[in-house]
Amino acid sequence: MKKRVLSGMRPTSKLHLGNYLGALENWKRFEANDCFYMIADMHALTTEHAGRTDIKETVTEVAIDYLASGIDPNKVTLFVQSAVKEHMELGWILATITPIPWLERNPTYKELLQTQPEKELNTLGFLGYPVLQSADILLYNADVVPVGEDQLPHIELTREIARRFNHIFGNVFKEPEAALTKTPRIPGTDGRKMSKSFNNAIFLADSPEVVAQKLKKMVTDPARKRREDKGNPEICPVYTLHQRFSPAELSKVAHGCRTAEIGCIECKTILSDHVIELLKPIYEKRLELSSQKKRINEILQAGNEKARAVACETLRRVKDAVGI
Ligand code: TRP
Ligand code: SF4
Repeated sequence: MKKRVLSGMRPTSKLHLGNYLGALENWKRFEANDCFYMIADMHALTTEHAGRTDIKETVTEVAIDYLASGIDPNKVTLFVQSAVKEHMELGWILATITPIPWLERNPTYKELLQTQPEKELNTLGFLGYPVLQSADILLYNADVVPVGEDQLPHIELTREIARRFNHIFGNVFKEPEAALTKTPRIPGTDGRKMSKSFNNAIFLADSPEVVAQKLKKMVTDPARKRREDKGNPEICPVYTLHQRFSPAELSKVAHGCRTAEIGCIECKTILSDHVIELLKPIYEKRLELSSQKKRINEILQAGNEKARAVACETLRRVKDAVGI
């Protein structure tokens, strides 16, 4: 039996290597199922509302990122959240049964409020972000939601909301399961979590030259200042990337670092070659797709229509259940 799969990403910038390993790679695993992959532009609006990002343009860039990464529009449905207004309708209906304390205890909410005070996140939309996400998932009766670990609280909340709805109005929703990414969060060039807001990201749109340059400047074990200093790979973010990209050379790199047999420059060149091996075909596909905006639009339009058909069907059942 094919499973219904739904996931999405917020178009707040072009996607980076962390998004690829954390999401897109995981999404591709489910291709043989019935997948709906969304560009969550209404969610992007919760943090980009002061006009700092051209969301419409970013939607196209993210669509190009999805396609260039090998998400096949002939096998999965790609769509844009704002083009399916049923998300907002179901979001409202679910909001009417979601207790505010459930939202206030959400770790992502608490964390972002504290770490990004400049973003004016004290809004109803930001607090209610996971309610809209629940609507995204429940509208498609998703069995599986492939996400990174940071999204687990949102999936749990979706299950709680589904249960509460079913309890009040009768059995309409199925409780979805999260399917976690295998790759843990990867570091950016400054050693912190890769993120566009830290300015430490390697983008899928970066040319091989730019990728090599960025990796060359990546921070290393700070104690290893000179070539002859011995290093500790365990505390080096370059090594964290090696663990994902260089399985065959891993022990050579670790040993070479500890004994100072290899220098950081050589170590980074090995890494760079592997990262570029993964990213170069994506970069080239991106270039090709960037000149085919019309085709991208057609793919999204077709996806939006398929998504809407499913969403309308569910919303009709929901409205029947709640009595409007
Ligand atoms: N909240 C997710 C993120 O920030 C994006 C998202 C929106 C999503 N709707 C979704 C993910 C539905 C999975 C399912 O990455
Ligand atoms: Fe890091 Fe490699 Fe330098 Fe060791 S040799 S400190 S693993 S970059």
